[in-house]
Amino acid sequence: MSRPLTSNPHAPSSPIRIRPAGPADLDEIDALERGAFAQDRFARRNLRRLLTRSSALVLLAERAGEHGPERVGYALILYRRNATVARLYSIAVDETARGQGIGPALVAEAARHAAQRGCRRLRLEVRRSNGAAQRSYERSAFRRTGIRPAYYDDGEDAVIMETEIAMREHTQS
Ligand SMILES: CC(C)(COP(=O)(O)OP(=O)(O)OC[C@H]1O[C@@H](n2cnc3c(N)ncnc32)[C@H](O)[C@@H]1OP(=O)(O)O)[C@@H](O)C(=O)NCCC(=O)NCCS
Repeated sequence: MSRPLTSNPHAPSSPIRIRPAGPADLDEIDALERGAFAQDRFARRNLRRLLTRSSALVLLAERAGEHGPERVGYALILYRRNATVARLYSIAVDETARGQGIGPALVAEAARHAAQRGCRRLRLEVRRSNGAAQRSYERSAFRRTGIRPAYYDDGEDAVIMETEIAMREHTQS
């Protein structure tokens, strides 16, 4: 399903559509990944595999451009069998489109899909130094639940953040 982005105060002027990505979107996802992360990046072959796995969902955010849809962001959700927690494993918004609420729109769509899979919580790890991302997640009702010391290859700690999917859908209705 795709949905327009309208109510966020950071919202861009042209509508954003978010849809599940497939193998044909590999180049777009790869470009977003390379543009957003200097390190801890997915190898292209891993992205290709993820785009076909039933335990993974990639969401692609697009907006209308002069020559057709332009990719502006993506999110990757990982599921484990019988788990009630889904992992928001990766999220990236094109540098030119940040601060417009596209990240929160991807998070909301990820939560909706996770709820449909029977999950009650969405969890993520974020670098301790990534204040912009943490603030964005807090606006999306994520709370800090712990620290994973030296989680990243360069030794930086991860902040663990979680949100209750059911509660958040209830409060928004
Ligand atoms: C984290 C991320 C997905 C958030 O997406 P987003 O659509 O920018 O989210 P928001 O609209 O809520 O904005 C988040 C913050 O980024 C700020 N920001 C960061 N870069 C910006 C830019 N180039 N232009 C404008 N604002 C920017 C926003 O102002 C906002 O800050 P605030 O909380 O002080 O207002 C996005 O910044 C991103 O892709 N970052 C690089 C990859 C990354 O760090 N991913 C997260 C790994 S856990």
